Amino acid sequence: MNDKNTIDLSWDDFDELRDPRPDNNAFDAVVDRAMSRRGFLGGVLAFGSGAAVMGAGVLGSVKGAQAQTSQFAFAPIGISTDYDIHVPDGYEWNVLARWGDPLFSDAKSAYSPVGGVDVSMSDRVFGENTDGMELFTDGDKEIIAVNSEYVNPKINLPEASAGMPQSADEVTLLKNMQGVTVMEVAKTAKGYGVVLDSPYNRRITHETVMTMDGPVAGSDLVKTNADPEGLSPKGTMNNCGSGRTLWGTYLTCEENFNGYFGATSPVEGTEGNIRYGIGGEGRYAYEKFDPRFDLAAEPNEPHRHGWVTEIDPLDPASTPVKHSALGRFKHENAEMVQANDGRVVVYMGDDERGEFIYKYVSNGTYVEGGSTDGLLSDGQLYVAKFNDDLTGEWLPLTPEATGMTIEEILVFARIAGSKVGATTMDRPEWIAANPLKCEAYCALTNNKNRGVKPNAGGDDTPATGPNPRETNNYGQIVRWMPTGEDHGAQTFTWDLYVMAGNPDVYDNAYGGSENITAGNMFNSPDGMAFSSDGMLWIQTDGDDSNEGEFEGQGNNQMLVGDPVTGEIARFLTAPHGAEVTGLCWSADKKTAFVGIQHPGGSWPDGAGKPRSSVISVWRKDGAMIG
Ligand code: FEO
Ligand code: CA
Ligand code: CA
Repeated sequence: MNDKNTIDLSWDDFDELRDPRPDNNAFDAVVDRAMSRRGFLGGVLAFGSGAAVMGAGVLGSVKGAQAQTSQFAFAPIGISTDYDIHVPDGYEWNVLARWGDPLFSDAKSAYSPVGGVDVSMSDRVFGENTDGMELFTDGDKEIIAVNSEYVNPKINLPEASAGMPQSADEVTLLKNMQGVTVMEVAKTAKGYGVVLDSPYNRRITHETVMTMDGPVAGSDLVKTNADPEGLSPKGTMNNCGSGRTLWGTYLTCEENFNGYFGATSPVEGTEGNIRYGIGGEGRYAYEKFDPRFDLAAEPNEPHRHGWVTEIDPLDPASTPVKHSALGRFKHENAEMVQANDGRVVVYMGDDERGEFIYKYVSNGTYVEGGSTDGLLSDGQLYVAKFNDDLTGEWLPLTPEATGMTIEEILVFARIAGSKVGATTMDRPEWIAANPLKCEAYCALTNNKNRGVKPNAGGDDTPATGPNPRETNNYGQIVRWMPTGEDHGAQTFTWDLYVMAGNPDVYDNAYGGSENITAGNMFNSPDGMAFSSDGMLWIQTDGDDSNEGEFEGQGNNQMLVGDPVTGEIARFLTAPHGAEVTGLCWSADKKTAFVGIQHPGGSWPDGAGKPRSSVISVWRKDGAMIG
């Protein structure tokens, strides 16, 4: 599998290799015909049975969107197709940190435009493929913790390697370009910059020693030759979205961890490994140089990844903790809120086609300044079931409900979710909770398999409920309102905040919901965060070809949505090739930090390699931006 085609695949297409859908699918044929004769497909594209509920109810939230006028603080911008950043009039941007930029002065020459990052300094620079991030303060110091999700081997490695590491040193380089960066930032004459040699600066990589807490810590499922007690997993990987605790620590979420493991000799395909897409050869051939990643040598090592990991960004000597009580799956982000009785609630999505949305609720309660012991290790994990009548419930994953032990439930949360009948979703990405109202939003980015094939566990994926479109290439955002305005409630009502689409191409539900127009359309919502003023910022990671059913949508972008009126306005467009992911604000809310991952061309330097970067964006008049 490790040919150049494989390394060029996206993570979700990589999954498809291990769980292919049937050949010559009849629905594909319909879509292919439709794509080549757009404008004629009005009545051709069939809907699933869920179409019946798509009228007044599901999109009720958007009713009247045109009747009220949102007060966006900016004039929305058009699409772009170039290799630059665009922001509205009256705003400016600058690069804060690029892949390979030094965190320490001895690493100032670690990066070169031709060779990339030198392995000897690779754990002392900003990592590649920036993703989720959060800003913390310590007195007047501002510290950003930021994920580096994965690597582009063809950019990091010599051309002769064809994108696959040829030595242990090259594996070390790839490992060090991923993980988490903690860095102090400070205002400059133009935006913000990294504070070189700050005592807060730190890299956390695939090699950093961690601990695990919760029911899985010490269980047989996570014991390895290097860690026979199963208490000290090493490294965090594929760090996708982020979260922050109520007590000021960082949550990094391990997503496509499955692709890092391979087998140097045949291993049995267990139910767990099949459900999580583990087997065959690893994406980066780590297993050829490091037995920790070899399934034949360490079958339990993958069980030590796929968790939410907590990092104290203000203590560079602290040991990160993997919280097993929150379950193991392809974690997108972790949105922490509080139940009315003080319990801690964490909403989490599992980003794979047909997988689930989860919620963790602590047994203990949190009061500001009080003990946090047990809050992320002692609680109940639930999985979401959405009903077609716009109600839903959180199903507890217990031994009684699943027939599994608590350790099995958490390590194989997907299997537990299937056993209780959770709703298969269109790739749950970020979840964001409205700070001004008891409701939460989840970006369901897209799902080309909706209604076409089951998920990796064999669960059906009918086009119903909040996932109403077969072969859904545009995505939607679902939101739920907990019963009694209490995030601790076990039931909720839901609706769709938006269905992305293309009204220029389709005059049916693939044209999008009422709040999608030719002027704001996009595809594949992914990153999301609320600003303190209660506006929903939406980042996209979709098809930026600007062709076919994506014509008129341009490069990936960041939009702002008004939760009350439903109005959505485009705020930023990314360089071609990039996705926009990761968003946080300076302490004074006058600067937004935005992640630009896997840009194309030679952005932002204008020559040499493309460099994933975090940028700062601010208003020229110095007003707040969120
Ligand atoms: Fe890492 Fe689902 O995006
Ligand atoms: Ca994402
Ligand atoms: Ca994505």
